[in-house]
Amino acid sequence: MYNSSLKILRLLPPELSHTITINFLKYFKIRQKNIEDSILSQHLMGLDFTNPIGLAAGFDKNAEVMHSMFSFGFGFVEVGTITPEPQNGNIKPRVFRLNEDKAIINSLGFNNKGIKKIKKNLIKYRKSYLNNKIVGVNIGKNKNSINGINDFLVGIEELGDLSSYITVNISSPNTIGLRDLQLRGNLEILIKKILNKRDQIKNINSKPILIKISPDLNEDQLRDIALISLANNIDGLILTNTTLKREKNLISINKDKIGGLSGKPLFDNSNVILKKMFELTNGQIPLIGVGGISSGKDCYEKIKSGASLIQLYTSLVYSGPNLINNIKSDLIDLIKIDGYKNISEVIGKSV
Ligand SMILES: Cc1cc2nc3c(=O)[nH]c(=O)nc-3n(C[C@H](O)[C@H](O)[C@H](O)COP(=O)(O)O)c2cc1C
Repeated sequence: MYNSSLKILRLLPPELSHTITINFLKYFKIRQKNIEDSILSQHLMGLDFTNPIGLAAGFDKNAEVMHSMFSFGFGFVEVGTITPEPQNGNIKPRVFRLNEDKAIINSLGFNNKGIKKIKKNLIKYRKSYLNNKIVGVNIGKNKNSINGINDFLVGIEELGDLSSYITVNISSPNTIGLRDLQLRGNLEILIKKILNKRDQIKNINSKPILIKISPDLNEDQLRDIALISLANNIDGLILTNTTLKREKNLISINKDKIGGLSGKPLFDNSNVILKKMFELTNGQIPLIGVGGISSGKDCYEKIKSGASLIQLYTSLVYSGPNLINNIKSDLIDLIKIDGYKNISEVIGKSV
């Protein structure tokens, strides 16, 4: 059924097909048998992950289809990016498929329904039978906000209690000035304020805070982020967001569209960043590897490169939801072939 739906959806413009998918998943209950095996389970950041495969931010921006994502077998789901005020994002068209490259370019610009509305979805969810599942809340800043840092503090205050972990997104390329928050001076101020806010609020003070970073950072910038994260006990790093770089070997007609590139062409670059960060942090901070994962083999490579967990988005668009069980099945085989008893033993083995 998924394969024929995918074929039809692929005939439509990408953003329309995404909206249809979300509306369908909102109301449709999926029942399918998923692969579960304790070889994939880990206790990390105070949370029990049944498997390491997460849905990356941007697919469920408004926290509307988390139940469907868990039905497909994801071990955790990240919703958002959520900004304090609702916003429409950049002008359309702003999502492009690069079919031949198995990639996407987007310049959405944090289109989302804003904290007030999305909070209601999260409250409803927390009251449901899925309350024990791991849902990360990815927060950002509004395009026109005068005090960007304050937007993150509002996100933590309003949504922290409803999250399993909070992701501070300072790496989307489609909001002017956002990525500058990754630079040393700015990052130090941001992190201190964020941790201060978290620690002040009962019910939130134990929530893990993760920072999501760009694949377009240089060595010095990565070193700064590693040192600041270690010094401030940041709970985790997510590497990476989409890239503004364009490799010469892209072949699709849409390769020069403006925006962040995701999918297969991002795999190697995001792996390089992952390996460097694993080294720079001496494996002391849990890393979530994202970028171009479309198979169990890719997932295994990310974990060997230093990731404790992984996330994906673009390959879900090209392969459909059966992908999650296929990845899990292949991953279990790869772990067993190499003689490991649990996935945690694989982390960083090739660094
Ligand atoms: C259409 C689209 C929208 C995205 N929106 C967000 C977002 O709102 N916040 C965010 O942190 N990342 C966002 N991302 C980035 C993904 O979470 C992920 O980091 C990136 O796509 C690389 O993973 P992939 O190659 O598996 O897609 C978006 C990606 C895509 C393709």
